[in-house]
Amino acid sequence: MQLVIVAGGFGTRLRPLTLQRPKALVPLLNRPQVLYLFDRLPDSVDHVIVAVNYGYAQLRDFFRSADVGRNVTVVEEETPLGTAGALKNVEGHIGGTFAAMNGDVIDSLDLEAFHRFHRRHGTIASLAVWRVDDPTGFGVVALEGARVTSFVEKPKREDAPSNLVNAGRYIFEPEVLDFIPAGREVSLEKEVFPKLVIEGLHAFRYSGFWSDAGTLSTFLHAQAVLLEAGRAHVADDADVARATVHAPVLVAGGCFVEGRLGPHAVLGPGCRIGRASVRDAALLDHVSVDDKAEISRSIIGAGASIGEGAVLEDTIVGDGVHVAPHARLVGARVSG
Ligand code: GDD
Ligand code: MG
Repeated sequence: MQLVIVAGGFGTRLRPLTLQRPKALVPLLNRPQVLYLFDRLPDSVDHVIVAVNYGYAQLRDFFRSADVGRNVTVVEEETPLGTAGALKNVEGHIGGTFAAMNGDVIDSLDLEAFHRFHRRHGTIASLAVWRVDDPTGFGVVALEGARVTSFVEKPKREDAPSNLVNAGRYIFEPEVLDFIPAGREVSLEKEVFPKLVIEGLHAFRYSGFWSDAGTLSTFLHAQAVLLEAGRAHVADDADVARATVHAPVLVAGGCFVEGRLGPHAVLGPGCRIGRASVRDAALLDHVSVDDKAEISRSIIGAGASIGEGAVLEDTIVGDGVHVAPHARLVGARVSG
């Protein structure tokens, strides 16, 4: 079976980190996000097509050098074609039943079980769904048994038909591509699913973990989910002897930490944290944080430095940015 990963958005909600790299390559627990999709792929998936526009060259180069154990084709869209247009654009590569996945979601889906579900129901499309507390930021389904009776993308709270959301994981027969007009931007969620509901669309429910990772809050949620799922670790050559560590955390090699770390903190290689506090945050590689700084619910770009006593909350700091001592940043997006 083939898998198409749609990974072509601009990643605006993770700017400024996505000014330097496509969203698929933003490190999540110190690995490019897109790699999590490969971790659980069954052997039956022998060809992965990555549909991308923004950041095409970086993704192509990444897959040329990374060994993901699969034949990977990175296909460039000249202009963004939307989540369905991206599939239509790779039609020439598709040779039968195929899976499709949003590139910015991590989960524990068993694709073989999903495929068996799809075959059992015998319709041309199946999507996987996940229960969340607040469905308003997602595609939401109404079900009768496993059959989807309506699909509504990002409804208002009062219009959401359930708490079951589109997990961004699909299995399609090639006929689905006939429902997608060629040569223009088409949204799978807004234009195609409403038609497939009539045609026959089934929803697969699963357990384990699931999280979107494409916004600051969902990225941090995905990070917490992965840390809780067993990916916490402190590298042997990281020095945390003088730190107060609240598990779970992930600390890469070459880090030196004196302050309070965690819970849910991730440090990339070579970070230096003074007597500061870092919790529910991701620091990419070689970030330095001076004494008395406090970082929470934030992502700090590679090589950035945070001055003494600065307070950062709900903030994304770009690569290489210096945040002045005693700055107070709440809900900020800071680029150099
Ligand atoms: N190739 C390509 N071209 N990919 C695209 C394009 C495009 O024009 N636009 C978006 N994508 C990719 C994104 O990179 C992402 O991996 C995926 O398609 C979904 O787009 P997002 O922009 O991240 O959508 P969302 O997070 O607001 O909502 C989607 O995901 C939710 C689950 O996380 C929808 O599919 C929702 O229905 C779903 O619940
Ligand atoms: Mg998304």
